[in-house]
Amino acid sequence: MTTAMFSRAVIRATGAYLPAKILTNADLAQMVDTSDEWIVQRSGIKSRHIAAKDETTGDMATAAGRMALERGGLNAGDIDTVIVATTTPDQTFPAVAVQVQDRLGIPAGAAFDVQAVCSGFIYGLGVANSFIRTGQARRVLLIGAEKMSSIVDWTDRTTCVLFADGAGAVVLEAGEEGDRGVHSVHLHAKGAQREMLYTNGGPSTTRTSGHIVMHGREVFKYAVNYMAEVVNEALAHNKVKAQDIDWLVPHQANIRIIEATAEKLHLPLSKVVVTVERHGNTSAASIPLALHEAVADGRIKPGHLVLLEAMGGGFTWGAALVRM
Ligand code: ACO
Repeated sequence: MTTAMFSRAVIRATGAYLPAKILTNADLAQMVDTSDEWIVQRSGIKSRHIAAKDETTGDMATAAGRMALERGGLNAGDIDTVIVATTTPDQTFPAVAVQVQDRLGIPAGAAFDVQAVCSGFIYGLGVANSFIRTGQARRVLLIGAEKMSSIVDWTDRTTCVLFADGAGAVVLEAGEEGDRGVHSVHLHAKGAQREMLYTNGGPSTTRTSGHIVMHGREVFKYAVNYMAEVVNEALAHNKVKAQDIDWLVPHQANIRIIEATAEKLHLPLSKVVVTVERHGNTSAASIPLALHEAVADGRIKPGHLVLLEAMGGGFTWGAALVRM
């Protein structure tokens, strides 16, 4: 007998939003002492989208969420929970999620933000999955949305060339008994390493949001190791081999991190969704943006086995295995 307790959380639809303004490496070379060659060689990024001054995380989240509802053939009233993964909310409070709930006309239910920086979408997926598995929610709008340009120090060449803006969304719903849906989510954190990547401000310290500070070389090293570990954990938990994966959808931080993870899994790059060259690092938005792109262009098809993985400030990291 199928009960709400054991329904898998199935991805019904995806959506995305990218700001109109594109910032190229050549543009950045006019702003700081850098070059297209350095940025491409070290990160794989060629261009990125940057929100307009008056364009907020809430605006981008609402647009991506609206697209996911439309693509899923859903009305606002069909959603009972809104979760937004973000590090760059419009205000310290209330949450971006309540703004999205209101602007999309979602009449009731829970709405809150999740903050796990670049791992935010995987953390949000863990929460949404648990809500659906336990019957606490039937249909969740989960959005990753970031205006990283608002916390970047635009005079710091070591970070300003990497981060960018955008939003991606999925609708998750309680599915029929079967193989489709989220099979497992694996989350980790190591707070002792929080000084590797952080903002030098916040409401209770400086009363500002601060700017990103990053020890890039160390972050790189840990990112490769933690992501390979958590990906193997997800595969082992589900008794799945890397060759059974149809698509790897990694957090888009750096092409070299993505390549190193794929290599450790012996997965060809042809099975990896890569957007980093055009999107840069959009933190919590990067996985749902990449997922949406590959679903919308037909690469990811119903029935495909997809592995999602991310690592971010904290450090936080995680992975999820999903049958589309
Ligand atoms: N343009 C030109 N030169 C630069 C720039 C730039 N934009 N930035 C740094 N440099 C210089 C440095 O000053 C340094 O010069 P020096 O040797 O004279 O001191 C030199 O380039 C090499 O710097 P490194 O930091 O050693 O370069 P590295 O090869 O490690 O690449 C990078 C830097 C791209 C930041 C890399 O370490 C990285 O990607 N780390 C992971 C960061 C990341 O992904 N963060 C996102 C959040 S966490 C996550 O999402 C996984």
